[in-house]
Amino acid sequence: MIVDPSSAANFNEIKIAHIDLNWDVDFTKKQIAGSAVLKVKANQKTRKLVLDGKALNIQGFFEGDKSLDFVVEKNDLYGEKITVQIGDLDAGADKDILVRYSTGESASALQFLDRELTKDKHEPFLFSQCQSIHARSIVPCMDSPSVKQTYNATVSVPSELTCLMSAISEGSSVDGPKTTYKFKQPVPIPAYLLAIVAGRLEKKKISDRCAVWAEPSVVDSAAYEFADTEKMLKTAEDLAGPYVWGRYDLVVLPPSFPFGGMENPCLTFVTPTLLAGDRSLANVIAHEIAHSWTGNLVTNATWEHFWLNEGFTVFLERKIMGRLYGEQQRQFSALVGYEDNLLPCIHDQFDCHHPYTKLITDLKGVDPDDSYSVVPYEKGSAFLMYIEQQIGSNERFEEFLKQYLTKFKYQSITTDDWKAYLEQFFADKKPVLGNIDFDTWLKTAGVPPNKPKYDETLVEACRGLAKKWTDSTDSAVDSITPDEFQKMAAAAQVKVLQCIRSADPLSMHKLEALDRTYSLLASKNCEVQFAWLQIAVKAKWAAVIPSALQFVTNYGRLKYLRPLYRNLFSWKEARPAAVAKFVENMPSMHPISVQVIKRLM
Ligand SMILES: *[C@@H]1O[C@H](CO)[C@@H](O)[C@H](O)[C@H]1NC(C)=O
Ligand SMILES: *[C@@H]1O[C@H](CO)[C@@H](O)[C@H](O)[C@H]1NC(C)=O
Ligand SMILES: [Zn+2]
Repeated sequence: MIVDPSSAANFNEIKIAHIDLNWDVDFTKKQIAGSAVLKVKANQKTRKLVLDGKALNIQGFFEGDKSLDFVVEKNDLYGEKITVQIGDLDAGADKDILVRYSTGESASALQFLDRELTKDKHEPFLFSQCQSIHARSIVPCMDSPSVKQTYNATVSVPSELTCLMSAISEGSSVDGPKTTYKFKQPVPIPAYLLAIVAGRLEKKKISDRCAVWAEPSVVDSAAYEFADTEKMLKTAEDLAGPYVWGRYDLVVLPPSFPFGGMENPCLTFVTPTLLAGDRSLANVIAHEIAHSWTGNLVTNATWEHFWLNEGFTVFLERKIMGRLYGEQQRQFSALVGYEDNLLPCIHDQFDCHHPYTKLITDLKGVDPDDSYSVVPYEKGSAFLMYIEQQIGSNERFEEFLKQYLTKFKYQSITTDDWKAYLEQFFADKKPVLGNIDFDTWLKTAGVPPNKPKYDETLVEACRGLAKKWTDSTDSAVDSITPDEFQKMAAAAQVKVLQCIRSADPLSMHKLEALDRTYSLLASKNCEVQFAWLQIAVKAKWAAVIPSALQFVTNYGRLKYLRPLYRNLFSWKEARPAAVAKFVENMPSMHPISVQVIKRLM
């Protein structure tokens, strides 16, 4: 029996096998209205179907023409528990339950953007973000990753717009002011991978199975930025087995999209902040591609085992990048992930005893969006890298990875399932596995019990340059020239800045010199700009406040918003301006971001 503290659904008794959506998208009312047919199948004899919902206007549940009794109970943290009386259903029997409804005003999965907030300012835009538990705000469902279903959809949108979903397109038909699109997703997916986007979008082909979609004015730069997508997908197949989803398309969203990317099947959503002009942020695409196996095929049964999704995905992402650009590159990213993402998160964002720093978390009474951090990503991938090193053969560990993904595809699993399979696969390595401290790695808060070994060659060069700034006198930094920094790849530049930031705050003189010498805010790479702002904010350099506020206005990624707002709010001189800016930006921000920043304030 699976217990998912984030869902009220009775999925141990009965499951949804398929959803048929029939939607009309209304940009005036900013809502989706229509119906859903839930094809349910009982695991055991039951009379009721319990679903998750959030702020939905439900007209009724029906079986054929018969209206069914239902009650909606509030649950402040998660939305609503909807109990529908469906009549007797024997184990193994199935039924179609129809629900007519529309989405609420504050549907947390949806952002309707007025045209002014798009790049081209031509037409309004809609996109969804259902992870973690927002699918329930667009359809009554079993909003737990332990339930996987296929779906079909018929969606009508204004004819000026194109509609896409996390599914295979089955064509469209124009009927005057409205165009109706059809989709099918024949691979069973958890509800959090349901996704829709509608906007003025143009398509550019990358390969027979890959394309990029974006607003017309950016589609060419997007096609350039993501040109290696097919190559990455092939490398991923080599590592993880055949790609089962048919198409792999990308859609570039408006800047308020709160994440770097979201691995919606068949259609990865990405932030426009990846368009650096030099393909330097393509690792995000490798990450989303990796999710086609880790997360989307093999899914953590509850959000508490989220690391099975994200830890494995980061590990696989770096394997892909390593095959394409060299093992040293992989080592570099892994070490940076450990030093600059994981350790500061454990020490600064939380503390060594904080329960969110455990790999397996306990989410009873906690909104998964609040516990979100880099821990499952970086502690998880560090754990896998450590195990790989203990096994002593990358080839054998890669073989394990492939077999694991093949064995558990289309399923939702827990950490115990993974561990049992690891022990079975490496039955000949019993003493080696016996020496690994699984309990501390998985269940204890704080820094991991062991640090993987990393090749530090590339990082050393970055540390060297950073020292020139941190260890010399004020007047000596005036003679530092920009060339060494400018010859570095963007990721190495970010590492230099991270090294500077982790030392004592720079003097005002050095801050000015650093900014002037490298023109950091002119970088087209957002990570470089962000790393610089973090240095200046940490040093409480008042001159940088306007730039920091401009940055959080331009770029809606939570990765940037969360630390910048947190640091600005806790800095006495910056707080009033930061609060005022947040209030001003709120109407154009994503609902998830608003909720997160409100809690920080
Ligand atoms: C979903 O749609 C496809 C074609 O569009 C169809 O073949 C399939 O039977 C549909 N699935 C269900 C369960 O209705
Ligand atoms: C599994 O991971 C996904 C993200 O990849 C997350 O959205 C989901 O909530 C997780 N499920 C559980 C039950 O932990
Ligand atoms: Zn991910």
